[in-house]
Amino acid sequence: MNVDRGPEARRKDGERGPEPRRKDEERGPEPRRKDGERGPEPRRKDGGSILGVKPGVDDMSPPHAFAVTAATGATVTAAKEWARRLGAPLSLGAAGKGHGGLVLEVGPAGLALLAPGGARVVAAVAELLAPTRPGRDLLARAALSRTPGGAPSVVDATAGLGADGFHLASLGHPVVMLEREPLLGALLEDAIARAMAGQFGRAAADSARRVTLHVTDARDYLAAGEPAGIVYLDPMFPEASKAALPNKGMATLRAHLEHGTGAAAGEEAELLEAARAFARRRVVVKRPLRAGALGGQEPSGSLRGRTVRYDLYAPAPG
Ligand SMILES: C[S@@+](CC[C@H](N)C(=O)[O-])C[C@H]1O[C@@H](n2cnc3c(N)ncnc32)[C@H](O)[C@@H]1O
Repeated sequence: MNVDRGPEARRKDGERGPEPRRKDEERGPEPRRKDGERGPEPRRKDGGSILGVKPGVDDMSPPHAFAVTAATGATVTAAKEWARRLGAPLSLGAAGKGHGGLVLEVGPAGLALLAPGGARVVAAVAELLAPTRPGRDLLARAALSRTPGGAPSVVDATAGLGADGFHLASLGHPVVMLEREPLLGALLEDAIARAMAGQFGRAAADSARRVTLHVTDARDYLAAGEPAGIVYLDPMFPEASKAALPNKGMATLRAHLEHGTGAAAGEEAELLEAARAFARRRVVVKRPLRAGALGGQEPSGSLRGRTVRYDLYAPAPG
């Protein structure tokens, strides 16, 4: 997903579907703010933002090498602003394309990460549209089954490119997305803001309004945040597994991001422990079909698909 696929997007039933309708192809990269203004979002005194997007990307200078570029002359100002926020060099014109590492491209239709070799990775905005065949949707069953009273809130603690979190939001769940890589946080923030502004149509806007993003380490958030019904973890797809196929975007980025795009082995157990202490109803962990249980902790049940399974854990007692 999300690599060189142009307008097509993965759907949960494995088919490809049309990209969400764009009402305003010409709209620049600056999202319309809730207060009706355009331009960079105002900062609250407490450092939060009115979009509900925690400004982690504002304050982090990632140690890995990447540059920010503008796809067109019209997006140079926005590219400068992203470069400032991410503490990255601005590299315009041919110099941007020739940068040896990742390049964050600011275009009129959104942000994209250009990886060496030409892969283009974008946030999974198509997932903001509800699937056409929800009955086959294993993730929905893992999140909703045996849950009275509608769609519970979900903390997607390993948000990545947002495919799973956006999908859960499209099904009506309020979703808090956590992502510790500032570059991925930038893709998600931009996608959420554009969706909320109506760029992908009304249904996507409704879904995006259910999403809050924090660019942070999930272990920190889970130690201190508001409890939620469900914590969802998708910490790592192994290298050469078939299960990695629908997640090509993450696979492409693996070599180029500071943390790889996964959680290190020691972190997995910590993440699961923090998630179980935080969740009110259950923890759902996405695993490749034949992989061992996360952190070696056996789940209380699993839903199995063709390439992945969802392991279910009860909240920690007390
Ligand atoms: C396999 S990807 C998740 C893919 C995602 N489910 C999707 O649908 O696009 C794992 C992501 O988790 C993030 N991650 C891993 N450990 C994390 C942590 N402790 N806190 C926050 N994010 C983490 C990685 O940076 C990576 O983006």
